[in-house]
Amino acid sequence: MSYQKLKVRKLTPRIGAELFGVDLAQPLDNETFREIRVALLENQVIFFRDQNITIDQHKDFGRRFGELHIHPAAPSPEGHPEILRIHGDANSKRVAGEGWHTDVSCDAEPPMGSILRLHTVPDTGGDTLFASMYAAYDALSQQMKDFLAGLTAIHSGEQVYRGRYEYDGGQRDDTRKSFPVNEHPVIRTHPETGRQSIYVNASFTSHIPQLSRRESDAVLGYLYAHCARPEFQCRFRWEVGSIAFWDNRCAQHHALWDYFPNVRSGNRVTIKGDRPFYRAQTPERTAIAA
Ligand code: SIN
Repeated sequence: MSYQKLKVRKLTPRIGAELFGVDLAQPLDNETFREIRVALLENQVIFFRDQNITIDQHKDFGRRFGELHIHPAAPSPEGHPEILRIHGDANSKRVAGEGWHTDVSCDAEPPMGSILRLHTVPDTGGDTLFASMYAAYDALSQQMKDFLAGLTAIHSGEQVYRGRYEYDGGQRDDTRKSFPVNEHPVIRTHPETGRQSIYVNASFTSHIPQLSRRESDAVLGYLYAHCARPEFQCRFRWEVGSIAFWDNRCAQHHALWDYFPNVRSGNRVTIKGDRPFYRAQTPERTAIAA
């Protein structure tokens, strides 16, 4: 696709592109919005620099792409239920996203995309890695693709969120809280591009119910190692005011926590998605998607 409004510079051939020529503090005209959407679909994650926007402008930008998602477990800042705070400092015991995942894949309809802006960054470190699950799928043998096509996997919020957040004024007691658990296809067809991608991740996925536990652990272990191969990845170096916007339907990400005890902080707006499905690809469909 050729862009009229934006300059798009790819980070790698498979995933990631930096976008220039847009100021998200200004109203977004329809053509620029359309090009941002195409850039996201083509690159799976897009990046903007020097975006000086308020929380409301951040939410408004997210709303152009769909209804905003409210996190099923993390508390939100007063008056902004759609904001997920991303924060690490000298008191942190853990940080969000430290491990390969797609956001909230335990939901029945997991988020289509997430838009993270950082306002405080460490001098070095705190990069985020993104991995193309299209590229990971494409690199599998046909026999492996056929085997995985018939399988589903269980995604559990429990194993990620239990004991993690403080509620009701600082209490970590979540014994009365339940977290989403859902079953999704192991291979997911992207609802807009029609491309296939691997849709299991080491953070949320617990097992493949069609297999014995040992078989499931072995297959998932293989897929996690395969999906984390460096040739499927790009790596983003944050600056103050940078924004990353990723497509959770075809990309995984991993936030590196190598900056302790320094501070890294920002806000994430997350956009609702739809129920993942697998549709076998016909030759005509493959041609359209390409
Ligand atoms: C996340 O949203 O998973 C965190 C990403 C990051 O902090 O880079």
